[in-house]
Amino acid sequence: MPLPARILVVGSGGREHALVKACLASPGRPRVIAAPGNGGIALEAPCFPVAADDVPGIVALAQREKIDFVIVGPEVPLSIGLVDALLAAGIPAYGPKRDGARLEASKIFTKQLLQKYRIPTAPAAIFTEVPPALAYLRTRPVPIVVKADGLAAGKGVIVAQTAAEAETAVRDMLEGGIFGESGRRVLIEDCLFGEETSIHLIVSGSDYLLLPIAQDHKRAGDNDTGPNTGGMGTYSPAEVVTPDLLARIDREICRPSVDAIAAEGIDFRGTLFIGLMLTTEGPQVLEYNTRFGDPETQVILPRLATDPLALMWAATRGRLSGIKLEVKPDYALCVVVAARGYPGHYPKGESITLPPVLPPETWVFHAGTALDAQGRLVSAGGRVLGICACASSLRAASDRAYSVCAGLKFASKYFRNDIGARQLNRK
Ligand code: AMP
Ligand code: GLY
Repeated sequence: MPLPARILVVGSGGREHALVKACLASPGRPRVIAAPGNGGIALEAPCFPVAADDVPGIVALAQREKIDFVIVGPEVPLSIGLVDALLAAGIPAYGPKRDGARLEASKIFTKQLLQKYRIPTAPAAIFTEVPPALAYLRTRPVPIVVKADGLAAGKGVIVAQTAAEAETAVRDMLEGGIFGESGRRVLIEDCLFGEETSIHLIVSGSDYLLLPIAQDHKRAGDNDTGPNTGGMGTYSPAEVVTPDLLARIDREICRPSVDAIAAEGIDFRGTLFIGLMLTTEGPQVLEYNTRFGDPETQVILPRLATDPLALMWAATRGRLSGIKLEVKPDYALCVVVAARGYPGHYPKGESITLPPVLPPETWVFHAGTALDAQGRLVSAGGRVLGICACASSLRAASDRAYSVCAGLKFASKYFRNDIGARQLNRK
């Protein structure tokens, strides 16, 4: 099955930079473009100023550039039917159609699916009105988790430590409308305890491949303190997932999830990213995402010996069963370099100086960067760069990544100093 020769990557984050780099490294040397891309992607591939959620604009761009494969990075375009529109125009695209994207775009849809197919997940109830929600809260222990149903850019989940905090979250969502339509329905879910881990599957109908396991650090500050973020750093493999546990996750979570989705009549072709809590009673599903994680992708793709483009293409064409996944034994670690203040307010437009030389097996993935009018690299978002290194040990990968973090310059540079610490300290 020949690989596509002209590829469009949709999105503008570190994940998309990693996808662009992986496609550029594919043996057939395809032409790769991005929309809208970012400052770092633009140094490697033509970027077109079309927003990721401009569905007609992306379809028109793909037609104009004679693209034969579109890879959609973020969840919003998936949830509004970008892949449906591309397929209708005859353009193969990686990522679920709108029906599959609901698994991320509606936490209630997913909870009902998990319950229907008895896939392990926290007990939860659904509310649209405040009084019954508050009555339910009084019957549950704290901490308790309040979730807006729809997409909320990672902000729609409140892990409330007290009943008062939970009540505020319920009122903010149902009465205050802080998440707009996304929060018109809420899920109140028991709190799970344990370590979180990210499972990525490349899915094609009933077939799937399990990608290397990663762990993300979600809190902004060292020692997992401070506000929740999109992710401040990742590492892979995650050794908390032993081979036995992985077999259990596959048996109890992955296979049943893929089968449940297919049984619902969804022909899912794309990434299913399962957020798991490893509880003392076993692995439980926190959420599904229907795209690659960011910054999980930055540590997963560099560890693949199999061409990631071949995987995504095979999944899209329904040919995944013929592919064998090969993973490098190396450890990978990614440190997110953010602008101080993220995930709250932070400065933009600061000029960035990258180190002139990088250690071996090290990559600078750009997230919130842009090229200014003079073509100079400037910051343009909260998470600015992802510094990823591979090595034969996690410690060596960490040393390499942090040496680059120390050497790069911009005024509000901020990063966590303890990415990977959980695993490094366990030994
Ligand atoms: P979600 O978007 O549903 O994964 O939630 C975002 C984050 O909130 C997760 O990564 C967890 O850290 C936390 N979270 C979500 N649901 C629960 C839960 N039931 N118990 C504990 N933490 C949770
Ligand atoms: N790093 C978590 C996410 O991509 O949702």
